[in-house]
Amino acid sequence: MLSEQIFRIQHQHPENLMARHFDAAYFNGLSPELQARLTRVIITGMQNPDSQMGAYAMNPDDYDLFQPYLDKLIRDYHGIEGELKQISNWDSDGTLDLASIDESLSNSSMRVRVGRNLSNFPLPGAMTRDHRIAFENSMIAVFKKLIANPDFGGSYISLTPGSSHEISHEQYLQLVAEHKMFKDMSADPYLSVAGISSDWPYGRGMYISADEQFIIWVGEEDHLRIMAMKCGCLLNEVFDHLHVSLDFIEAQGLVFARSEAYGYVTSCPTNLGTGMRASLHIALPRLTQNGSNVDLLKPVAKKLGLSVRGAGGEHTAAGAGGIVDLSPSARLMVSEGEIARKLYQGAKQMWALEQQG
Ligand code: ARG
Repeated sequence: MLSEQIFRIQHQHPENLMARHFDAAYFNGLSPELQARLTRVIITGMQNPDSQMGAYAMNPDDYDLFQPYLDKLIRDYHGIEGELKQISNWDSDGTLDLASIDESLSNSSMRVRVGRNLSNFPLPGAMTRDHRIAFENSMIAVFKKLIANPDFGGSYISLTPGSSHEISHEQYLQLVAEHKMFKDMSADPYLSVAGISSDWPYGRGMYISADEQFIIWVGEEDHLRIMAMKCGCLLNEVFDHLHVSLDFIEAQGLVFARSEAYGYVTSCPTNLGTGMRASLHIALPRLTQNGSNVDLLKPVAKKLGLSVRGAGGEHTAAGAGGIVDLSPSARLMVSEGEIARKLYQGAKQMWALEQQG
C-alpha cells in the first residue's frame, strides 16, 4: 500500500518532505485519475527515501491541482508562512563589487541561472520522446534569432541522435568538463525515477553565445535553464546581462509557466519563485579544512541564508584550495535584485569569517 510505504519513510527519513506532509485522507479523497497523477509526482521521494523534497511536478498545473498537499511541502522547504505572492524585481540597487570586499576577489567566477518552463508542454518528467524533440525544435527557431543578433551570436549544439546540430560524444564530454554543458542526468536517481531523464539524450542541447557568457540548457531538470556567467567582480552586471537576455528571448513569443503565488513554475518545488540560483566560487581554505570538508561550512552558511556545494555542482566536493560554490538559499518570496544583494552580503560575511582565527 502506498500510504503504508510513505508512513515508513516518514519514520525512517523525517527530512523527506514528501513523506512528512503526506496525508492519506487527502490522497484517498482524490479520483483514481488524480491519485495516479499525484503518485507520479511523489514516486521519486518514495523510491529515494533520502530525498530532501521528494517530489517533482509533472505538469505546470500540478501546483494548483494538488495545492492542498504541495503547498505544505513548499512552505516547509522555503520557510514561508502567511500570504504567498511572488513579485519579480531585478533592481539590485547599485553596484555590487566583489573587489571592494577584497582585491583577491576581483576575478571571481560568477554565475546566475533561472529555471523556466513553457506552458504549452508537460514538464520534463511527463514528456514523451516526441514532446522532447518538438520542444527542442521549437527552441531552435528561437536560437536562430539569438544567433542572428550580434549581441548574442554563438551556436546551438544538440545531443539528439541524427540532429543537424548534433555533436560527438567526445565534444559533449569536453563541454561537461568545461562546466558549460550538463551531465548525463540518467545517472541521477532522483531525476531518473521521476522520468525527467527519460529518453536521454533526445531533445537535449545547449545554446551558447559567442562570448560564452550566456548559455541556455535545453531539456535538463526544467525545459530551460537560462544562465549568465562571467569571471570578474561586478555581480550586478551578470544579473543585468541575464535579465536583458531573458527579455529578449521572451519577446520571441515564449510563454513561461507562472503562478501568482509560486512565481515561475519549476519541476522541483525547491526552485519555485524566481527559479533562480545565483552563485560564485570563493576560496575558503580555512573554513573547509583546505577543501577536505565542505560539510563543516554548511551550518555556518545556513545561518547566513546561504547554501554551499562543491565547485563541481550539486553533490560534489570542494575544489583545490577549498574553492566552494556559494549561493543564497532563498528562491521564493524574494526578488531577483534581493538575491543579488544577498549573494554580495553573503560573500562579504563568509570572507570575514575566513579571515578570522
Ligand atoms: N529531488 C532531490 C531531493 O528531493 C533533489 C532536490 C533539489 N535538487 C534539485 N536539483 N532540484 O532531495
